[in-house]
Amino acid sequence: MKIGILTSGGDCPGINATIRGVCKTAISHYGMEVYGIHNGFRGLMDEDITQLNEKSLTGLLNLGGTVLGTSREKPFRKKGISAGSNKPDIILNTIRKFGFDCIVCIGGNGTQKTAAELVASGVNVVSIPKTIDNDVWGTDVSFGFDSAVSIATDAIDRLHSTASSHQRVMVIEVMGHKAGWIALYSGMAGGGDIILLPELPFNIHHIGDAIINRLKKGKPYSIVVVAEGIPTLGGKKAAQYIAEEIEYETGFETRETVLGYIQRGGSPTAFDRILATRMGGHATELIAQGRFGQMVSLRGTDITSVPISEVAGKLKLVTEDDDLITQGRRMGICFG
Ligand code: F6P
Repeated sequence: MKIGILTSGGDCPGINATIRGVCKTAISHYGMEVYGIHNGFRGLMDEDITQLNEKSLTGLLNLGGTVLGTSREKPFRKKGISAGSNKPDIILNTIRKFGFDCIVCIGGNGTQKTAAELVASGVNVVSIPKTIDNDVWGTDVSFGFDSAVSIATDAIDRLHSTASSHQRVMVIEVMGHKAGWIALYSGMAGGGDIILLPELPFNIHHIGDAIINRLKKGKPYSIVVVAEGIPTLGGKKAAQYIAEEIEYETGFETRETVLGYIQRGGSPTAFDRILATRMGGHATELIAQGRFGQMVSLRGTDITSVPISEVAGKLKLVTEDDDLITQGRRMGICFG
């Protein structure tokens, strides 16, 4: 069999470990031919495709980013710059021309949507969820999330010591436009006092009260973890808006930190390396069995799969009844 593999959307720790998991299994266990498609779906438009071998797959396990390159190219997008384009035809021609028996698409929500379009066009596809945001529907966890949470938790730990030394409020903004998983998990792991997520409404007076109550209990500093996607006024960034509001509300000296792309770069955690390796291996197994149109997923501790058509267009968001939120509330953490 001849398979093509691509990575699409924002990068994250663990992509290279996944490429390695798919390709090494395909080449050494199943004797498949594997081709790397460069820069996401754009590589199928440009025919930017090279054969991978054992040598080109060396040194990938702990390497950040993606050796295949990535792009946010959405060839099936019906509006905007792609409207009326023949990109889908170009892509389908390339797949036919190279004689690919299956395309492996590694990516987040946008990628799963494009993968579903490819499936609907008759292409054999197996996809793997990839995002630090952990918002791909149909899997409990995607690789990249654990690494991002570790990085954010380390940053929160560091802010703790400077916050307590100066008796300040520290606001840290982490990634997550629509989903607050990174804020929730790093906030809880880092001992945040106030955690704000895009999914949960907040009231600035409650936040002010929480900070003043901490002072009354002899804790004259606070850590506020905010997801970048919380609603703000005047187009302000989340951390800036919340820091200004807190200072106005409480009179406490407040500082802000935006963690940014550090959360997406560098080496994956051991957990993500294992998850990436298992997911990559399972993707190849699905191909060998001819079970196409599936996205690999983690359910509990089991690696399984779900139809890509069920995943496309959905988002996995934090819900009010999440047990980590319940536990946080019981421990006095303010969620807004
Ligand atoms: O990968 C998801 C994500 O990290 C979001 O949390 C973030 O807002 C977004 O990507 C930004 O990515 P880019 O600037 O590459 O579009």
